[in-house]
Amino acid sequence: MSSLAQRVETLHKLLHQYNYEYHVKDNPSVPDSEYDKLLHELIDIETKHPELKTSDSPTVRVGGEAQSSFEKVNHDTPMLSLSNAFNEADLRKFDQRIRDAVGEVEYMCELKIDGLAVSLKYVDGKLVQGLTRGDGTTGEDITENLKTIYAIPLTLSKNISFEVRGEAYMPRQSFLKLNEAKVARDEQPFANPRNAAAGSLRQLDSKLAAARKLDIFLYSINDFTELDASTQSEALDELDALGFKTNHEREKVRSIDEVLEYIEKWTKQRDQLPYDIDGIVIKVNHLEHQEEMGFTQKSPRWAIAYKFPAEEVITELLDIELSIGRTGVVTPTAILEPVRVAGTTVSRASLHNEDLIHEKDIRIGDSVVIKKAGDIIPEVVRVILDRRPEDAETYHMPTHCPSCDHELVRIEGEVALRCINPKCQAQLVEGLIHFVSRQAMNIDGLGTKIIEQLYTHELIKDVADIFYLTKDDLLPLERMGDKKAQKLMDAIETSKERSLENLLFGLGIRHLGVKASQVLAEKYETMDRLLTVTEDELVEIYDVGEKLAQSLVTYLENEDIRALIEKLKSKGVNMTFKGQKLSQIEGHPEFAGKTIVLTGKLQQMTRTEASNWLKLQGAKVTSSVTKSTDLVIAGEDAGSKLTKAESLGTMIWTEQDFIDKQNEINK
Ligand code: IVH
Repeated sequence: MSSLAQRVETLHKLLHQYNYEYHVKDNPSVPDSEYDKLLHELIDIETKHPELKTSDSPTVRVGGEAQSSFEKVNHDTPMLSLSNAFNEADLRKFDQRIRDAVGEVEYMCELKIDGLAVSLKYVDGKLVQGLTRGDGTTGEDITENLKTIYAIPLTLSKNISFEVRGEAYMPRQSFLKLNEAKVARDEQPFANPRNAAAGSLRQLDSKLAAARKLDIFLYSINDFTELDASTQSEALDELDALGFKTNHEREKVRSIDEVLEYIEKWTKQRDQLPYDIDGIVIKVNHLEHQEEMGFTQKSPRWAIAYKFPAEEVITELLDIELSIGRTGVVTPTAILEPVRVAGTTVSRASLHNEDLIHEKDIRIGDSVVIKKAGDIIPEVVRVILDRRPEDAETYHMPTHCPSCDHELVRIEGEVALRCINPKCQAQLVEGLIHFVSRQAMNIDGLGTKIIEQLYTHELIKDVADIFYLTKDDLLPLERMGDKKAQKLMDAIETSKERSLENLLFGLGIRHLGVKASQVLAEKYETMDRLLTVTEDELVEIYDVGEKLAQSLVTYLENEDIRALIEKLKSKGVNMTFKGQKLSQIEGHPEFAGKTIVLTGKLQQMTRTEASNWLKLQGAKVTSSVTKSTDLVIAGEDAGSKLTKAESLGTMIWTEQDFIDKQNEINK
């Protein structure tokens, strides 16, 4: 070996050692300047003699050539997730199941690091590949980015071949610095360290990833045959010995009560950690017990993740605003002093109805505790009574509609207050918005703002008036040019050809959804035939319940409605079924043709599973939120896509909303 090659080898050894002492052991033996000096010596040699640069050189930590994309790679064994526990009862159930299966056990308690799962493959002691979790089956090759994480050994102290898995994360300190820099550059800051870590690992230029200062904790091994461990605890110790960084807050315990103590301790102390955790992972310690328990499709039966309750913050309730929906329901909304919760700024939260306001005794001026239900939808949890201003008065819903002043009624058996004035402006505007929406008449370009203007200018009073509009009516509206007006006129014209089910749905008849509209249109084929149906006839139809049958007949018997239908007819609006039969529709009418975006971490299914299911229902699943997005399904820690959807007013569902809908459809 030449003396230069020998020097390179020495430099590798020293730099790896110093790096390990600093980043894994947190116990440097030399000053930073010594490390830098040796690193620069190595960089110099490699620049002059590129043939001496190896893939495990400590210089790869600073990043290399940018890539154009990440290669998709199948995992050798799927990267599963964990089932969740949210409270003591869930944990005791888990414990019982374990003890029923294998008797008394020890548990390993570990912090649940809030980052991204990655896998690292070593061959003969050298790091050869690093993958993201992806959908669990296929990940992306982010080896070059992972190599920039100093705590990941490029070479191990033994020549073994195996795969280790762990959580890459961004320490809070790095996160704060990164966001400060972003704000200084007028860029949107990251919502939380997890999003920042995810963004960094997906940088195509590993030099940029290197600048992001990520870290990692390893927590599992794929194949134990390479190691001498018989427990999770020993496996982690062995990972330590091989040069990996594991989390040392772990504790081995003998009972579920001790697990609960560990959870309590970290619930209190989590804020003091230099990184975010979102829960505690509990694993059966003995590998033979783990093997006995095995796996479900999605997760090991021998482990569970306890999730910390959603973040709660305090803010002031400035006002209660009322909105009137299409069906006249008056909904109170809390207007809040803007506050950041779980990654986004919250300034409004639905209070649902008067009963809820009274149950929680919510008053204007109160300090209130806010959290995000399912980590997405803001909710007022409770009032802080000690902080209540002396003059705060019990809130009463108005007796009259804030829009039309008609008396509000509370329909028996319902908690909602409702304005029953069919001429109520707020309701009519909402009704018009519904009429032009995508699943109804699909009049593109006729948005809320335009409808409101047309209404206040008395150009439209009911849905049929839309078809009486002329270009001259439109031109005086705000921000309306000739081109836009023409486009809108064209869209209105085209909508006349919509099939009967779209028109029916658009009329906004109570209890009549997309599916039943389809069923009715397909069965009766024309509006004229529908106008003659009886309740008895209707309830015979499988998808039509009593409530709908009654509401539909009452609606269609109404003389004003009959006149409205005539008015629509006289303008050439189609009144016949010309859509696809249900048997030909691919998917479910509720989702077919909709553009849906999935974002955030889902707990009960993977994003791929959710996406596949939606596609089966005929939906288009896309990756970015735009004006044409119909629905955003947001899991935990959803970031900028959720913010965008909020700002566009796109419909947002939590994972639970989605699951409820799936159950309804699969019923
Ligand atoms: S064990 C079969 N241990 O939490 C999955 N996971 O759904 C075994 N996580 O995807 C995972 N800290 O990204 C394990 N100490 C820890 C963890 C941990 C964070 C993440 C991991 C996993 C998710 C659980």
